[in-house]
Amino acid sequence: MIDLSNISSLRLGITAGGQLAKMLVLAASNWDIKTYVMDADPECPAAHNCTKFFKGSHTNYEDVYRFGQEVDMITYEIESINVEALKKLKSEGKIILPDPEILETIQDKGLQKLFFENHQIPTADFKLFKNKSEIIKAIQQAELSVPFVQKVRQGGYDGRGVIVVNDASDFTKLIDSPSVIEKKIKIKKEIAIIAARSSSGEVSHFPAVEMEFNPEANLVEKLICPADISQSISTNAGKLADDLISAWDMTGLLAIEMFVDENDEIWINEVAPRPHNSGHHTIESVVTSQFEQLLRAILGLPLGSMELKKPAIMLNLLGEPGYEGIAKYHGLHQALQIAGVKVHLYGKKITKPFRKMGHITILGNDRQDVIDKANQVKNIIKIVS
Ligand SMILES: Nc1ncnc2c1ncn2[C@@H]1O[C@H](COP(=O)(O)OP(=O)(O)O)[C@@H](O)[C@H]1O
Ligand SMILES: [Mg+2]
Repeated sequence: MIDLSNISSLRLGITAGGQLAKMLVLAASNWDIKTYVMDADPECPAAHNCTKFFKGSHTNYEDVYRFGQEVDMITYEIESINVEALKKLKSEGKIILPDPEILETIQDKGLQKLFFENHQIPTADFKLFKNKSEIIKAIQQAELSVPFVQKVRQGGYDGRGVIVVNDASDFTKLIDSPSVIEKKIKIKKEIAIIAARSSSGEVSHFPAVEMEFNPEANLVEKLICPADISQSISTNAGKLADDLISAWDMTGLLAIEMFVDENDEIWINEVAPRPHNSGHHTIESVVTSQFEQLLRAILGLPLGSMELKKPAIMLNLLGEPGYEGIAKYHGLHQALQIAGVKVHLYGKKITKPFRKMGHITILGNDRQDVIDKANQVKNIIKIVS
């Protein structure tokens, strides 16, 4: 248990140092918590805001282990951390939250799916395969039929490592890797809910958001809160979120991506045990931000209110296609003239096509108002080199 009477001397370790870490650092500094960030890149977004920066790779055992010696507790902003080092630190009494065993399951989409299945959490039917030739054999033997979705079990993100196989012409796209093959869901809407659970067992969740993807880059471009779903879907999705974080008995945040299908059924897609892109808007639009909520959860404090203050849209600011080099931001002055526009720049020096360089949260009076403003802002701000 952390002694909060000395919160000013608490050394919170965060691996790694991307934009999620930067926003967590900003929230922690409100409570005068000392933030220690480790990342391989000394110019990473969180490097210049944290109390102390450590150069080291989150995938390297020695780096993570040594970093752990410097801090009182560790939380993380990315899944691909060296779990063996976290487990070793935990065995030596270091507080690691969420628990490394949970992270280990979530790092592997196959183990995630098995966890959902074992806990009666609705998820698209699936099978696990060791490699491409096993998948092709299953197709030839009619054990597997199109359409289906292939997901590599480890290391995929932002659509990398996921392919949708609609017909035989897509077989050439199959990836040779241990994979989950799952049923293609007829998606009506993709939504996400971030659940929180504190070390005292208190559970709650943020309102559902609706995600829209950039079809070219296959990453979230825009999300709207509240999601345009019925009250009953919203209630059921919230209950699923609470059930899932409780099933894991975890302390921290669990970001849960879900599909709502054409019959209004809800399917859990995948989860992340950390703050999430789908919760950025909470900084301005919810009483408690996802970053403050993570701190409350891991410090054993009461969870804060997750009530939505105003409808919001979050737009990821992606590097403009065709530009690579030192980032220049066009249109900020004009965008900031629009009421309710909040700009977050992550401080990544180099822009690349579709790189997440920042985000904008837009607050408005209702759904149409935020959509109209988002359409304006989208055409105004460009990140070029
Ligand atoms: N079973 C499925 N049926 C239909 N579309 C899917 C399915 N699984 C994934 N997708 C689509 O692919 C996207 C990326 O898949 P996801 O598992 O979330 O991978 P990532 O880790 O890249 O986010 C999803 O947001 C969704 O649009
Ligand atoms: Mg996803």
